[in-house]
Amino acid sequence: MPQPSRYAVFGHPIAHSQSPRIHRLFGEQAGIALSYGIVDAAPEAFADAVRRFFRDEGGHGANVTLPHKAAACELADERSEAAVRAGSANVLTRLADGRLAAHNTDGAGLLRDLTDRHGVDLRDRHVLLLGAGGAARGVAWPLLDAGVASLTIVNRTAATAAALVGAIGERARARTRHWQELDAIGSFDLIVNATAAGVLRQSLDLPPSLVDDRTVCYDMAYGAASILFTRWAEAAGAYRACDGLGMLVEQAAEAFALWHGRRPATAPVYQALRQSVDGRMSLR
Ligand code: ATR
Repeated sequence: MPQPSRYAVFGHPIAHSQSPRIHRLFGEQAGIALSYGIVDAAPEAFADAVRRFFRDEGGHGANVTLPHKAAACELADERSEAAVRAGSANVLTRLADGRLAAHNTDGAGLLRDLTDRHGVDLRDRHVLLLGAGGAARGVAWPLLDAGVASLTIVNRTAATAAALVGAIGERARARTRHWQELDAIGSFDLIVNATAAGVLRQSLDLPPSLVDDRTVCYDMAYGAASILFTRWAEAAGAYRACDGLGMLVEQAAEAFALWHGRRPATAPVYQALRQSVDGRMSLR
C-alpha cells in the first residue's frame, strides 16, 4: 500500500485549528487518502520546521496561519501573484523539483464565501475595509478585482492604511480615511472587519451611521472572535452580519484544489463546522 501523501498546518498557537478536520472531510469526499498534521512552531523555528517537513518528512503541501504568513511567502522559491501582492502566504506547495511555491488563497476564499454562500454581488459596491495588516492585504486586491466601485481602507494606525492604499495605486477606487472620520463618511454596502481586535477580544469603536438596511457586515474571524463585531452590526441595523467560517472553508478548498487538482464541495463541510462552532458558542 502506498503511504498517504502528507500535509500539515503550521502556526503558533495552532492546537485549535480546524484545518485538519476540513482537509480530512475534503479527502473523504474525493476518495483521497491523506495524512494532515499540526505543527506548532515558534517564529524562530518556523523556517527549519518547514524545510524538515518538505525535505525529510515527505510533505506535499502545507497551510500556514498566524504568525507565519509573511515568513512563508519569504522562504518560498516561487510566489503566486496573490501571495506577492499580499506579502503573505497561507499555502505552500512542493513542486516536482523539490522547490517550494507560495500561494495566498484567503482573498479567493472571501470572495467565494461572499458571493456563493451569502449571495453578495460585489460589482459596483462601496466597501469599507477595517484594518491594514496581513489579513487586510490578503483581501484588498481581490475585492478590487471583483469589481467593487470603491474600497475605503481605515486602520487604527492611519499610516499603515495609507501605505496599503499607496501599494494598491488605484487612486480612483482605493482610498483611506482616518478612524476619527468614520462618523462623517456615510454608510457602505459591505463592511469587512480584517482587524485582529475580535481575536484579542477588544471591541471596535464604530458609529452605527456606517450601516444602513442594505449593508452586509463581514468579520474575517469566526465564532467567539467575531461576536463583538457581528453584534455591533446587528444592533446598528445591518441587513446581514456574517462571520468568517465560510471563508475558512473556502480558502481551504482553494488549497485542496492546488494540491489535488479538484475543488471539493464545500457546503457539507461548512455545515459540519457551523454546527460545532455554534454548539460551542451556545455552551458559553
Ligand atoms: P493580521 O495578519 O491578523 O492582519 P496584523 O498584521 O498584526 O495581523 O494586523 C492586525 C490589524 O488589526 C492591524 O490593522 C491593527 O491595527 P494597527 O495597525 O493600528 O495595529 C488592527 N487592530 C488590532 N487590534 C485593534 C483594535 N483594538 N482596534 C482597531 N484595530 C486593531
